[in-house]
Amino acid sequence: ASTLGEAAAESGRYFGAAVAANHLGESQYVTVLNREFTSVTPENEMKWDATEPSRGSFSFGNADRIVNHAQSQGMKIRGHTLVWHSQLPGWVSGLWGDDLRSAMNNHITQVMGHYRGKIHSWDVVNEAFEDGGSGARRQSVFQQRLGDGYIEEAFRTARAADPNAKLCYNDYNIDDANAAKTRAVYNMVRDFKARGVPIDCVGLQSHFNSQSPVPSNYQQNIEQFAALGVDVQITELDIEGSGTAQAENYRRVVQACMAVSRCTGITVWGIPDHYSWRASGTPLLFDSNYNKKPAYYAVLEAL
Ligand code: XIL
Repeated sequence: ASTLGEAAAESGRYFGAAVAANHLGESQYVTVLNREFTSVTPENEMKWDATEPSRGSFSFGNADRIVNHAQSQGMKIRGHTLVWHSQLPGWVSGLWGDDLRSAMNNHITQVMGHYRGKIHSWDVVNEAFEDGGSGARRQSVFQQRLGDGYIEEAFRTARAADPNAKLCYNDYNIDDANAAKTRAVYNMVRDFKARGVPIDCVGLQSHFNSQSPVPSNYQQNIEQFAALGVDVQITELDIEGSGTAQAENYRRVVQACMAVSRCTGITVWGIPDHYSWRASGTPLLFDSNYNKKPAYYAVLEAL
């Protein structure tokens, strides 16, 4: 295979990228996107502040541009994300109790309904757990005002809104099999499966840097989630660094996914380095002139 998407397809997987609507007019960007990738995730355009900036009035223009582009190229689309504490419009934090509950459910229903049948997987809930050793829930407005049950409620609402989409829980720092945050998410997924709460996948964001390197038990972590009966997707991969060291880290991540049949796809969080959300770094597979980096060739070999 000569592209990431073709190489991943040989084992039935997708290889995706986070895409920003405002780059779709740039020919080099679109050339590489269309050539290499078989899935897209809108980087910001499906978030709550973008899709429902004021209550009950929905705006899908930028997200639609990405979806239309992806469909015209036969690419899959990951939906990101429905319930998250960040990039949340101010009006949501003015709501309490059942008013907040119905706003959350309506948001899920409307956004998923707009894209029904077009999204292969949705990040229904994003980043709901605290960092560090507590394994506690993050104290978002949803957690504080609706209690633990909001996550399960979001998944049930999501299943009804688009029964054909895979429903994912997505988070960062859940890459180490034994970390407290990982254990907490694992226990939640196990409980959901035991009680029949609809969940189909766990998204490992997998943002790595020197503070949070690729864990040595990363493959074991993918295996333990898969053993619960959910798919695993690597959803926002980027790895700080350069040259051979960066390439070998990318290789390890891709090899870990390839070793587990329920690891069904990988998405990198951007295409060229200069568009990375990590403003000062070089964490992606293409340099700022769209040249393939050593990390690109390591990924291509490992797929
Ligand atoms: C980031 C985007 O890449 C930035 O453009 C934006 O300013 C902030 O959000 N976890 C997530 C993603 O789930 O949505 C975040 O994306 C990166 C961390």
